[in-house]
Amino acid sequence: MVAVLAQPEAGSDLKAVPLSDRNGVLEILQMRRDPFGYSDRKRLQYGDVSGMNAFGVRIVTCMGAEAANEILMNKDRAFANAPAWSYFIGPFFNRGIMLLDFEEHRNHRHILQQAFTPKVLKGYMDELQPMVADRVSRFPTGRVKLFSELKALTLDVALEVFLGLELPQHEADRLNKAFIETVRAGVAYVRKPVPGGRWWKGVRSRKVLEDFFYEHIAAKRANATPDLFSVLCHAEGDDGETFTDEDVVNHMIFVLMAAHDTSTITMTQMAYWMAKYPEWQEKARAQSFEFGPDLDYADLSGLTVLDSIMKESLRLCPPVPAQPRMAVKDTQVQGFFIPEGTMVSVPQLINHRDPQYYTHPAMFDPERFSAERAEDKGHRMAWMPFGGGVHKCIGLYFGQMEIKTVMHHLLRGYEWSVPTGYQVPMDYSALPVPKDKLPVQMRKR
Ligand code: HEM
Repeated sequence: MVAVLAQPEAGSDLKAVPLSDRNGVLEILQMRRDPFGYSDRKRLQYGDVSGMNAFGVRIVTCMGAEAANEILMNKDRAFANAPAWSYFIGPFFNRGIMLLDFEEHRNHRHILQQAFTPKVLKGYMDELQPMVADRVSRFPTGRVKLFSELKALTLDVALEVFLGLELPQHEADRLNKAFIETVRAGVAYVRKPVPGGRWWKGVRSRKVLEDFFYEHIAAKRANATPDLFSVLCHAEGDDGETFTDEDVVNHMIFVLMAAHDTSTITMTQMAYWMAKYPEWQEKARAQSFEFGPDLDYADLSGLTVLDSIMKESLRLCPPVPAQPRMAVKDTQVQGFFIPEGTMVSVPQLINHRDPQYYTHPAMFDPERFSAERAEDKGHRMAWMPFGGGVHKCIGLYFGQMEIKTVMHHLLRGYEWSVPTGYQVPMDYSALPVPKDKLPVQMRKR
């Protein structure tokens, strides 16, 4: 007999969630090693909804677009973000917008939204464009670990466009280090501040970031400049309410984190697929040459080839591979009973390969996004790299703007390739990154 997570009340129509009889920690290790094989086996054995106990938490994975819709649209407000995400990143990204819920989230998001209006985005684009052009023109050639180059680039963009401060190199390096250690702490295996460990470094680095932002906040409040830091200092709600200093600091640290690895992973995936399929690299390059080197905001929508390569890369490898939520009351998903205190997970990495919506789902095929095929439109949650519902990515336009600008300059300035048959080895233990940092052969054009 299959064990179950919890029995619904007698007389209820709900089904009990089947529970894996295996050690939950081993399950998670397996899932990280081979997420696709793992989920195929799970689906075969238990169906789309199944649970496990791991690290003292009940976790239920709910596969499929319908389940994603139920959880993320959260109609009866049964699922919360803070208790779920805090489990992973709480101490380091405390009170970031993604870790707020319900009314409080709505109020903060309303103010934060002002940092992402088309007008403000155009201002960021004016800062971003020359900086990216300059940085990309100085990329190395020969055998290059492209993931590392792109990661360094997006961090520089973040410092310049988000902070709007001219920092001496040693100060920028100190911030970068603190930022990287804060992000790394979220995936520490030892989740206690053991001196020298990742968690401990994360707590100390978060303090470095906080001190930095508090030090500069008065100047930012005094003077409006076209950077995110300044915009957050001046943004007002409908009744003139503004963020406190503490809010600004918490949101800045969170947004920096949310923007960084996600964009880097997407660019790396795009570069990988364009190296594997040089005909797509050529097609995208030809279109980039139809525009001048200096892109402006209005040009972005004209880069349609890059757009479909980006969408397909985000489908095959969504940088946020799953979204966790915590049930804050007894509820249900797809007719299964979910008791209060259960963590549920929406696995978009798996959902994005659902054969119900995608033909040859594991294949790289940007044309599936064409108006004629529009496979992503088969269900509102068939393609959801930016999430859905009230927590849907607030930076999705900023992210796409940065990604396209970087790729545009890369295409115009360089050609790159990987050996025939090369398959990028992915590490899925946190956000999906290439284990080998994607070594490519780069040459200037
Ligand atoms: C390709 C790039 C990106 C991807 C794939 C991505 C993905 C996501 C996803 C899946 C979520 C929802 C998480 C959840 O509901 O649990 C999210 C939220 C968020 N993202 Fe992004 N993101 C990207 C870029 C960015 C950028 C560039 C920024 C900022 C400039 C940003 C800022 C945020 C913020 C602030 C949230 C939380 C929103 C809220 O809770 O209301 N993201 N992102």
